[in-house]
Amino acid sequence: MDLNKLKKQAAWAALDYIYPGSVIGVGTGTTIFYFIKALSTKKNLIYGTVSSSNSSTALLKEQGIQVFNLKNFSSVALYVDSADEINHHLQMIKGGGAALTREKIIAAMAKSFICIVDKSKKVDILGNFPLPIEIIPMAISYISKEIIKIGGKPKYRKDVITDNGNVIIDVYNLRIKDPISMEKKINALPGVVTVGLFASRSADIVLIGTKTGIKTITKKQK
Ligand code: A5P
Repeated sequence: MDLNKLKKQAAWAALDYIYPGSVIGVGTGTTIFYFIKALSTKKNLIYGTVSSSNSSTALLKEQGIQVFNLKNFSSVALYVDSADEINHHLQMIKGGGAALTREKIIAAMAKSFICIVDKSKKVDILGNFPLPIEIIPMAISYISKEIIKIGGKPKYRKDVITDNGNVIIDVYNLRIKDPISMEKKINALPGVVTVGLFASRSADIVLIGTKTGIKTITKKQK
């Protein structure tokens, strides 16, 4: 099955959640590429967008979609983004595209977070996909040592500088059974800008592209 078709299917399904006059947060990555194309069909209906990366900003502008500076907003109605992995609590690993910090800011600001994925991203336990951490460059050795202590195998992502001027470590060998506590633990290390675990602020809805159509999972109300 062509995963790109499933990404596209999920991307177009997200249009059903867009309300006229609203500001939409836009994520980053190959799935979001399809979403931006889909969103261009509604560009006159929405107020505009805020973007999670320079690459998405460029794509949005190419499609003639208004992009506002995030610093002028304290909340957005909706955030649409994808994930590298998502579990049944709708907690995610994100950051394969190195945009995790801005993605996490918009996710925190969003009244509703819709995650759009192809079926390969749905997992029982997070951690098979290496966990990205954006760090201040001078902290690389210290953080690598601390990551080894918690059982991870850190690998520096070569030739990548984030939109914020930092670097990325990808952590292999993790089976993340308690994503909220791991997110807190890693975020607390000095020098960490953002860990790509989206657990405290999980998605509200996931739209999964499958060969039999869209599967929708909504977060259980607490
Ligand atoms: C970008 O930093 C990531 O969080 C992406 O949202 C995630 O990696 C999914 O990307 P793809 O849609 O390219 O798989």
